[in-house]
Amino acid sequence: MAARFAFQTVPERIFRQLVRRSTSGLEGLGRSQCVNSVSTEHSRKYRAVVCTELKKPLEVQTLSRAELKPEEVRVSIHCCGVNFADILACQGLYQERLSLPFTPGMEFSGSVIETGPSVTNFQKGDRVIAVTEGKGMAEECIINQKLLWKLPKEVSYEEAAALPVSYGTGLLALQHRAATQPGEVVLVTAAAGGAGLAAVDIAANVLQAKVIAAAGSDEKCKIAVHKGASSSINYSSSNLKDELKKLTNSQGVNVVFDAVGGEIFKDSLSSLSWEGRIVVVGFAGGAIPSIPANLLLLKNISAMGVYWGRYRNEDFGLFSKSIFTAIQLCKEGKIRPHIGAVYKIHQVNEAFLHVAQRKSIGKVIVSMR
Ligand SMILES: NC(=O)c1ccc[n+]([C@@H]2O[C@H](COP(=O)([O-])OP(=O)(O)OC[C@H]3O[C@@H](n4cnc5c(N)ncnc54)[C@H](OP(=O)(O)O)[C@@H]3O)[C@@H](O)[C@H]2O)c1
Repeated sequence: MAARFAFQTVPERIFRQLVRRSTSGLEGLGRSQCVNSVSTEHSRKYRAVVCTELKKPLEVQTLSRAELKPEEVRVSIHCCGVNFADILACQGLYQERLSLPFTPGMEFSGSVIETGPSVTNFQKGDRVIAVTEGKGMAEECIINQKLLWKLPKEVSYEEAAALPVSYGTGLLALQHRAATQPGEVVLVTAAAGGAGLAAVDIAANVLQAKVIAAAGSDEKCKIAVHKGASSSINYSSSNLKDELKKLTNSQGVNVVFDAVGGEIFKDSLSSLSWEGRIVVVGFAGGAIPSIPANLLLLKNISAMGVYWGRYRNEDFGLFSKSIFTAIQLCKEGKIRPHIGAVYKIHQVNEAFLHVAQRKSIGKVIVSMR
């Protein structure tokens, strides 16, 4: 179960290299294949994205409904968030191979259309948000009631599909792991990505930290500042370490949320202040850095990791709380997920390509409507 949520670093690096060197195998992703696409909610058939062969374009197929087990709920899906792990799974580069054929998609929003006899918490018509092991890129799916959270009317289906993975990770990284305090300086790298922009939102607007956003283009920096960052650094055109020195008057930053790795991680680590904390979130840049232990000692620094999906097995209470908190904060208007692009189900291959090619800003959504 946990493996579906693993953010595998080595396969990710291989995948990123694959994307950089050649888009063979991905080129086809731009051309969605749609098989037998007509269905209605009452026909007991539904459309689903299906990975039938690794590294090949995904198909949209019409599938037949299965029967519900007692604790299961049938959900009509509105929107599904696209995560990098979905792309890896469809490339066969994920830690645990899913057996073919499978439907990708690990977070979605929708409404309940049927409940099993033992389901007590949900009823037909309820708006919900869900976290799954795949299955989310479809018009409907069956899911255990334990993995559903009620969605208030104030939160749109699009926003909801962008909350669990990115905001859940941001909350556990910045609050639970790094114990970020109001007024502290937080550096977020890849600050306009799915996880990055959520981290900026949480740090600036919930934890009242002073955020420095670091990203790979001026446009991305601008979006992160619009989300609440106090300042930004374009690390494609300037030196991260030098700029951080200037921005903090050589004091350094208290907390780092790093989803890039490599040299960006190293510059961030050496820019920490006394008793600073760096949270390892991912290695989108491809390189897994090492940490010189003397650096930790000299400034009483802590380096820590966060692996949000793993909390589902290790501490379900905390995992669930991270989703519930994200929903509440969104309902109260304290956070607002940025939806960078919305694709229709038949455009799923274009959606995957958009994320894989580093073009995405905020969250990319696949809409079933
Ligand atoms: N630990 C967890 O629980 C957890 C949860 C969610 C995501 N993650 C990880 O966090 C990372 C970001 O995820 P995400 O969903 O936010 O993905 P994303 O939106 O695609 O963000 C990735 C960003 O990384 C930056 N980047 C830097 N070097 C890159 C390179 N060589 N190739 C591609 N991108 C590069 C890019 O931003 P710039 O152009 O601004 O550099 C890109 O937009 C991934 O490694 C993912 O696996 C981990």
